Amino acid sequence: MLHLETLTALRKARANWRQTNASVAFVPTMGNLHQGHLRLVEHARTLADKVVVSIYVNPLQFGANEDLDSYPRTLQADMEKLLAAGADAVFTPSTSVVYPRGLEEQTFVEVPNLSNELCGASRPGHFRGVATVVCKLFNMVQPDYAVFGKKDYQQLLVIRLLAEDLSLPITIIGVATERAEDGLALSSRNGYLNAAQRQQAAKIYAIMQTAKQSLQQCDQPFDQDSDSIKHIEQQSQQALKAAGFTPDYVSIRRQQDLAPATSGDKALVILVAAYLGKTRLIDNLEINLA
Ligand code: PAJ
Repeated sequence: MLHLETLTALRKARANWRQTNASVAFVPTMGNLHQGHLRLVEHARTLADKVVVSIYVNPLQFGANEDLDSYPRTLQADMEKLLAAGADAVFTPSTSVVYPRGLEEQTFVEVPNLSNELCGASRPGHFRGVATVVCKLFNMVQPDYAVFGKKDYQQLLVIRLLAEDLSLPITIIGVATERAEDGLALSSRNGYLNAAQRQQAAKIYAIMQTAKQSLQQCDQPFDQDSDSIKHIEQQSQQALKAAGFTPDYVSIRRQQDLAPATSGDKALVILVAAYLGKTRLIDNLEINLA
């Protein structure tokens, strides 16, 4: 497995692969890798001849009061996991490689349609930071495929829009969320939870399952103003509060574009963001109505 730290080294590896017509699948990460990340790498393996994983904690997507400094950095263990998972190259650029002119003075990528609601509403600038770094990483790695988790559902849609709007020649692939046995979505931020909070955290999945059942029992078709949808969102919020969370949002949207569900929509997703102490957890569940 190649360990690439500079753009020159990455470009050289990419040029070699191009000479042999090898296709490339790319998995961008911020490291502290868990089974969810490795599932993406596994999927990438099935798509292309070469798999590149990047590990870069991107300052641009963290707000001033967020966890940039405390975000777990575990490069040695990550490298071992990627070697075992069969990655061909790991790209670990420094900030001077990603943002040679600094974080302030540069070109940004904005995907306004989706970026200012849900997670974007409570994390201003977050999706601009994500879209900018992903676009730059795409230009560095020049992959044929890029693989993202559905765990970050809104992020996946932002990237899909970005690729479409900028006519990028990259196929964007979404992979199902990997969960612990009790249903909690794997996340690097789960490491911030104490033992009691870790147990509580699994309630998010149970509450989403209940909401899914309620939706499936609703009379069809419902519309955007449907009391039933709002009612289910409110019930889920209450259930989160009762379980000790401070909910940020619970929202039932269309899978395709995250617009509010309208009459006849069958492919829905319930999205949840909630605080447990200081830790912000997000999760979602797709709901396909018959
Ligand atoms: P990070 O949080 O490290 O996640 C990297 C990728 O792993 C994302 O596509 C995310 O959706 C996916 N992922 C995380 N937990 C998962 C789980 N339980 N099951 C399946 N996939 C999971 O997301 C980022 O980094 C950054 O925003 C990034 C895209 C790298 C840009 O900086």
